Amino acid sequence: MKKPVTVRPAEGKLGVLLPGMGAVATTFIAGCMLARKGIAKPFGSLTQLGTIRLGKRTDNRSPYIRDFVPLAPLDNLVFGGWDIFDDSAYEAACKAQVLERRHIDAVRDELEKIRPMKGAFYPEYVKRLHGTHVKKAANKAEMVEQIREDIRRFKEEHGCARLVAVWCGSTEVYIEPQEVHATIESFEKGLRENHPAISNSMLYAWACMKEGVPYANGAPNLSVDFPAVQELARKQRVPIAGKDFKTGQTLMKTILAPGLKARMLGLSGWFSTNILGNRDGEVLDDPESFKSKEVSKLGVLHTILQPETYPDLYGNIFHKVRIEYYPPRGDAKEGWDNLDIFGWLGYPMQIKVNFLCRDSILAAPIVLDLALFMDLAQRGSFHGIQEWLSFYFKSPMAASGLYPEHDLFIQSMKLKNTLRWMMNEELITHLGNEYYD
Ligand SMILES: NC(=O)c1ccc[n+]([C@@H]2O[C@H](COP(=O)([O-])OP(=O)(O)OC[C@H]3O[C@@H](n4cnc5c(N)ncnc54)[C@H](O)[C@@H]3O)[C@@H](O)[C@H]2O)c1
Repeated sequence: MKKPVTVRPAEGKLGVLLPGMGAVATTFIAGCMLARKGIAKPFGSLTQLGTIRLGKRTDNRSPYIRDFVPLAPLDNLVFGGWDIFDDSAYEAACKAQVLERRHIDAVRDELEKIRPMKGAFYPEYVKRLHGTHVKKAANKAEMVEQIREDIRRFKEEHGCARLVAVWCGSTEVYIEPQEVHATIESFEKGLRENHPAISNSMLYAWACMKEGVPYANGAPNLSVDFPAVQELARKQRVPIAGKDFKTGQTLMKTILAPGLKARMLGLSGWFSTNILGNRDGEVLDDPESFKSKEVSKLGVLHTILQPETYPDLYGNIFHKVRIEYYPPRGDAKEGWDNLDIFGWLGYPMQIKVNFLCRDSILAAPIVLDLALFMDLAQRGSFHGIQEWLSFYFKSPMAASGLYPEHDLFIQSMKLKNTLRWMMNEELITHLGNEYYD
């Protein structure tokens, strides 16, 4: 392994740019503002609440992560972004109906000042939305240039020392990586020629790479998951991460599946369904957008359970995932999971999980952690895919030829060991000190 890097300090303001300022983005922004004022706590955020053990257990050294690595403090964050609707962050937060009025109103003045920049939007990639606050450009290459100008202007106007972007926009239709995504040259040609396999989120990602802005992808869109953009990220020395925030049902899956496997309990079926009624649910009601989500959700069990290695236990799993748009529930999603498992001698058992969750409440701390860790990564000269942030994603990106790690506990260990490595601390192996001859 290379010698750990020196991490540059987190001086000055950090601009957090959010393409897509809907439920998740506004819940994140308002939450940071409330936490800064001491009105509410940022539960769910590792960067704000997590600790990290250093050295031996007898050393008693477990600082907060935020005291161990130089992260941008909440007070230094400045928020901005793009949307295809003109609502301020205050109006969007009210419409999203995630947070209660007492919370939104406590930071109303600050939220009202945040107005989205015009979105880059070709409607064929999100069929259920009809944006009104959109850029006009002769072609997709020009659209990228307009986003780049927005980025530079935002940095200048807000006096930011650094920027980071987290895609919180809608889920786009399913696109397979193809020829146009292969190299920087083919992609740039595709931009000039308005290639149909270049979606909106790719335009933002490309602009960010060009401007040296780290980019994390919260949706299952390809965005930064194709060879050309990864090559550009390495060339520009920019960190990228994705994809699709790991929040409700998939979070539960990556908590439960490693447990079953650790105990060598078999699985014959896993049926997951949920109802949700927010705008995300409406977008996912379109079969082509749902397809992106489905692919992202289905990959999880296979890598955790390794059916090739354990054919008797996991070689014949029926795995099905459904999402139903059901407006009365808004952001308060309800998920049902039925697991058919088997134990000693093949005797069957069932596990039922009924998760009454709140989508954006689970996603907001992920946005915060990703923004802060991606900024840290850049100051530590990390670039390209940040596999150590797999912890936060349903469908983590991995270097070519490597399988992604889905097990939440391995992901957590990987994240913390990367932080130790970054700061020249010993990695923790969890080896015991039992007596032996
Ligand atoms: N909340 C969760 O638990 C969770 C988990 C995983 C992934 N996600 C993903 O995060 C994203 C955001 O979720 P949400 O609940 O906030 O959805 P949302 O619909 O409330 O917000 C998305 C916003 O993106 C905007 N948008 C769409 N295309 C755009 C473009 N080209 N440019 C700028 N803005 C654009 C929409 O107008 C909307 O305001 C979705 O893709 C969702 O699938 C959410």
